[in-house]
Amino acid sequence: MPYRQTIAAAYDAGVEEEYNRLNETPLREAEYQLIVELLDEYIPKSSVVIDIGSGPGRYAENLLQRNCRVGVIDLSARSLKAFSDRMEDSCNSDNIIFNRVSCATQLDWVDDCSADAILLMGPLYHLVSDEHRNLTLANCRRILKPDGLLFTVFLSPFPIGNGGLEAIITHTHFQGMDVPQFRCMPGDAKKIMKNNGFETLRIRNIEGIASFMPTETINEITTPNKKSDFLNTLRKTSEERERLGITHQFFVISKPA
Ligand SMILES: C[S@@+](CC[C@H](N)C(=O)[O-])C[C@H]1O[C@@H](n2cnc3c(N)ncnc32)[C@H](O)[C@@H]1O
Repeated sequence: MPYRQTIAAAYDAGVEEEYNRLNETPLREAEYQLIVELLDEYIPKSSVVIDIGSGPGRYAENLLQRNCRVGVIDLSARSLKAFSDRMEDSCNSDNIIFNRVSCATQLDWVDDCSADAILLMGPLYHLVSDEHRNLTLANCRRILKPDGLLFTVFLSPFPIGNGGLEAIITHTHFQGMDVPQFRCMPGDAKKIMKNNGFETLRIRNIEGIASFMPTETINEITTPNKKSDFLNTLRKTSEERERLGITHQFFVISKPA
């Protein structure tokens, strides 16, 4: 099956799972917090933000609540429908500038220099060919204003334990489909960004040191105090240079060079 159909079919089948993912475990709650706090820090209220690979739009919803004007794009029509259904009665729904099924590689329909920020938290690790990732980043470069910011998520090869930390392609079994994943270390991610006209400003591990904690230990973090200590520890260690990439996912903030 062509890659776009595989991704669309998998995420169409897993809309609910994907929506619930970010509050399923203390670690996923921390993931949401670690990303949202950086979006808060870098994206001023009322900005125009395009979320490419928005899924059911947890982050888009947060940005709408901060009075941003938000466009959502995804290959999964059902994910986008879940977002528009949720937003239907929201007082912020007038700030949705578009909601459209499209591939990150094919964004000619989005105006040049129209976004203050782009979220690209999915496509870069599902697009396994260099050509497709480069096309996607060329679209982002064109759509972003010169002082705009790009927020991306990469997957690391570290958890695969293949003995090396070179960029690799793996597959995850999601909703009955073998979904391809591109994995690379932060150094490779920086090069990819640089080769596509972006300068990397900041990289943060998402799971970081929690990658070494047994699932049962993490799932015992249930009280507000324990959750706050856990988040503080992850945050404190998330940008230590020697640990970057020792994680499942890492978050990259870039600007046009
Ligand atoms: C793991 S979900 C992440 C959703 C959300 N961005 C988040 O961080 O929670 C990845 C999303 O990227 C979308 N996606 C993957 N490749 C894409 C592409 N080439 N174009 C548009 N969307 C894509 C998938 O359909 C899926 O909804």
